[in-house]
Amino acid sequence: MNIIVIGGGGREHAIIKKLKQSPKTDKIYALPGNGGIAADALCVDIGAKDIGGIADFAAANNIDFAVVTPDDPLVLGAVDALNAKGIPCFGPRANAAVIEGSKIFAKNLMKKYNIPTAEYNVFTDVNAALEYIGTAPLPTVIKADGLALGKGVIIAETRETAAAAVISMMEGKIFGDSGTKIIIEEFLTGPEVSVLSFTDGTTIIPMISSMDHKRALDNDEGLNTGGMGAAAPNPFYTDAVAAECMEKIFLPTIKAMSAEGRPFKGCLYFGLIITSDGPKVIEYNCRFGDPEAQVVLPLLESDLLDIMLSVSEGTLDCADVKFSEKSACCVIMASKGYPQKFETGFTVKIPDESSLGAEVFAAGVKKADNILLSSGGRVLGVTSVADTLDEAVKRSYQAVSKISFGNAYYRKDIGKKALEAYTNSS
Ligand code: AMP
Ligand code: GLY
Repeated sequence: MNIIVIGGGGREHAIIKKLKQSPKTDKIYALPGNGGIAADALCVDIGAKDIGGIADFAAANNIDFAVVTPDDPLVLGAVDALNAKGIPCFGPRANAAVIEGSKIFAKNLMKKYNIPTAEYNVFTDVNAALEYIGTAPLPTVIKADGLALGKGVIIAETRETAAAAVISMMEGKIFGDSGTKIIIEEFLTGPEVSVLSFTDGTTIIPMISSMDHKRALDNDEGLNTGGMGAAAPNPFYTDAVAAECMEKIFLPTIKAMSAEGRPFKGCLYFGLIITSDGPKVIEYNCRFGDPEAQVVLPLLESDLLDIMLSVSEGTLDCADVKFSEKSACCVIMASKGYPQKFETGFTVKIPDESSLGAEVFAAGVKKADNILLSSGGRVLGVTSVADTLDEAVKRSYQAVSKISFGNAYYRKDIGKKALEAYTNSS
């Protein structure tokens, strides 16, 4: 089969490497891909938000299947446009991608269908929001309604910072139109768990759980980023928690989406906090997480293309979805300064994967005269799989030490929290 994968980050590289393992795969095109993905797919210079361009390319190039992973094209209707050209897809249509595209939609859905989440209020008027902040419990969580590259959430410890956040979102428009409507919600405490799932709208199969590391600096300090590393499985996602999530969150969510006339097909991502009151949803994403995909997919033993086809055809109940019992760790190598200002354009030197003992997924990398150059905030994801998480963490950091580019920065404590939890529970 000829496949297009939309996007150009580390997550897409992990998906492409896995799809390549399927005997059914012929050509894989990445739109737009990146300089590192070019080693594994034919990169085509069509941006992930160019919905018309994507659909025209697919129609003109004998494409049998499309995998749409980033949030923007999903929310903008890439799957609808491809389906209209007769091309089956892995990914939700726009009317279901709204579960990520509008946090207000997601919160209202959870309220209507009794799915556990933080208490919240919606504001469209800046003065009403500021008045509410005058008495809201602290810390308080302020979220832009729309997409904001994973950065549209501000946790405010004081009323002053909360008010400043409201003003910067609603009046200063730091997240553009995404912040014209906001949510102010209850601050939840407890360990965070990411659960990606395959769903065809009727059947839902959770993948192995994982732990993201969202903050820029060690010990979960600094600004929120897209994610600085990940570990899988997540020790806080016990069998009991998994069973409760299936009963109270996963199945109710896909049933709710179908009941609303918005059946969700693709990868539905549950961002959870395990509170003393049980697991609660802090966010839904309509796609694989990045960097969660870079630890979850290397542990998948089944054929990813077969699973994706069964999701698209509505036969997920018959699919073979098996994960290894091993553990995985992904360390993101970023440009120093990310997620704010950073310099790029430095030569990226990566030894052969066989000598590295790790897989490297390219994110912010471009190719010029056959040389790889850093070109983004998150540059590479370095993933190791091993029998224990301890070993996987060590191997990833060993591999990271053999990779170099100017201005490289990475967290030194990826997997540490998960390892401590394993130690405390044994
Ligand atoms: P989100 O983009 O919704 O995943 O939020 C980014 C990060 O903010 C999450 O990973 C959490 O660490 C934190 N967060 C979001 N909502 C809450 C909440 N209600 N309580 C505590 N932390 C939260
Ligand atoms: N790593 C979080 C996300 O993909 O949204």
